[in-house]
Amino acid sequence: MSSAEDLAHLIAPIEQGLAAMRLAIDDCCSEKSGAVSDMTSHIARFRGKQLRGALVLLVGQASENYTDEHPQVAAIVEMIHLATLVHDDVLDGAEVRRRVACVNERWDNQIAVLLGDFLYSRAFGLSTQLRSRLCSRLLADTTSRLCVGEIEQSTMRYHFEMSQADYERIAAAKTGTLYSAACELGARYPEGDEARWKEMREFGSELGLAFQIIDDCLDVVGEEDVVGKSVGNDVADGKVTLPVLRTYAEANELTRASIRDAYTMPGIENRRDALREVCDLHPGTEYALNRASELVERAMQRLAQLPRSPARQALEGMGEFVLQRRW
Ligand code: FPP
Ligand code: MG
Repeated sequence: MSSAEDLAHLIAPIEQGLAAMRLAIDDCCSEKSGAVSDMTSHIARFRGKQLRGALVLLVGQASENYTDEHPQVAAIVEMIHLATLVHDDVLDGAEVRRRVACVNERWDNQIAVLLGDFLYSRAFGLSTQLRSRLCSRLLADTTSRLCVGEIEQSTMRYHFEMSQADYERIAAAKTGTLYSAACELGARYPEGDEARWKEMREFGSELGLAFQIIDDCLDVVGEEDVVGKSVGNDVADGKVTLPVLRTYAEANELTRASIRDAYTMPGIENRRDALREVCDLHPGTEYALNRASELVERAMQRLAQLPRSPARQALEGMGEFVLQRRW
């Protein structure tokens, strides 16, 4: 349960909704400026897994709350996600995402910041056209919490003794929030059953945190041609993620000093390689994977309250996909 075919199989129950979501994204991004349309065509090539949009639709169906506006809600969530990634690649100095050159690489940082702003403003523009204001309200709150997570992450760079709770709080804010909002909107938009959407909000939050933990493992142990995006950015940028935090916590003082050196000593060309040379990341990565499994297991228990359906079954498969994925 980790390949593109597995994912295609999982999202089969919402194929039509996804097609409508993609049309809504294209429509919402259309712009007569040739410069901008070149850029939006470029990023259309890195659509990626569109998991967050798929979650809006799957949770909507599984919680019997699906409306004709769900594909637009999914489009708004995906466009906000895209905007954050375009900005994130500037912050990380990333070169490749979803096997395509990042906007900052294909053009430059200035363009990438502006294009991210463009996508973000168009996404909120679309949300104002919906019949209910719930989507605008919830996503405004979500993106502000997501920015706080990114800001805190920045301030915690090179903090090798950060607690796991702090790491998880930041990962939950920067990634869990949008997963959580996607699932909440699926079950809630425009006015679903309160007990149900609250449960789906938690489901999304746990799934999103697990996704970020796996992402952080792939950054230190994955290979770029498999993952499809630049790897090693976290080490290069001073981000101490769960697999490294755990390795550091378990290491002796000598190894700890070498880990700090790999992150900070001037003149190191590839910091991830340097890190992998001075310590065995395997146990730390195993620990992080176990933590992600624990979160997914908890998330899966929340699905039990939903009626049995192909969409619920797909959500069950989504947990496994998040854990097994290598891209
Ligand atoms: C990916 O993390 C990045 C995020 C989950 C959020 C990025 C958010 C911002 C840069 C700020 C907000 C921007 C807007 C438009 C509101 P990662 O770097 O760990 O993952 P990666 O490996 O996919 O790059
Ligand atoms: Mg990044």
